[in-house]
Amino acid sequence: MRLTRLLHLSRNRRPVRRFRDHLVEPEVVEAVLEAARYASSAREAQPWRFVVVQEALARHRIAAAAFNHPHVMTAPVVVACCARIHSHVSGTGRPSFAMDLAAATQTMMLAAADLGVQSSWVYGFREGNVREILGVPEHVPIVALFCLGYHDGLAELPERLPREEVIAWDRWRTPVRAAE
Ligand SMILES: Cc1cc2nc3c(=O)[nH]c(=O)nc-3n(C[C@H](O)[C@H](O)[C@H](O)COP(=O)(O)O)c2cc1C
Repeated sequence: MRLTRLLHLSRNRRPVRRFRDHLVEPEVVEAVLEAARYASSAREAQPWRFVVVQEALARHRIAAAAFNHPHVMTAPVVVACCARIHSHVSGTGRPSFAMDLAAATQTMMLAAADLGVQSSWVYGFREGNVREILGVPEHVPIVALFCLGYHDGLAELPERLPREEVIAWDRWRTPVRAAE
């Protein structure tokens, strides 16, 4: 297997416990958002709309809406990843906006890692509260929060399932462990 730079970044990215009290340079924030703009989306709908929150009071209120997880409370930048849901339902009728937003969020995470900045992904938050704090319209889902900053504590590298358990070739194969 070829160890590319991206594979190296993916393998070595560790979850953030909390962020340092240190601003993220505007050009770094811009570069991370620019990467998101080039993520894949179904039918090229690009349904994402990002609200970049740096103002302290709003960040603290958002952290409260996200159950005060330390990494959200300490993040100097919190991005609300929103979806303009109409016009991006695929040909099968399956809504794709959440997939598109996930692609954008993962792209931001890898771009951040490439730039030497840490990030975290938050799905557990009271959407209604964040909507009210940021003035996001009712018809626009807030799919995720993305926290960005320099870390002040990392968790251990999460263990990944073995390759043979997650990859099958040519047809489905129930892994031995799944039957346990
Ligand atoms: C879709 C998604 C939602 C997540 N939601 C939360 C969350 O609400 N709160 C949180 O602390 N971490 C959340 N995380 C972070 C995961 O718990 C994190 O991925 C985990 O710490 C393992 O790190 P890694 O898989 O990024 O290496 C989420 C991650 C993903 C991909």
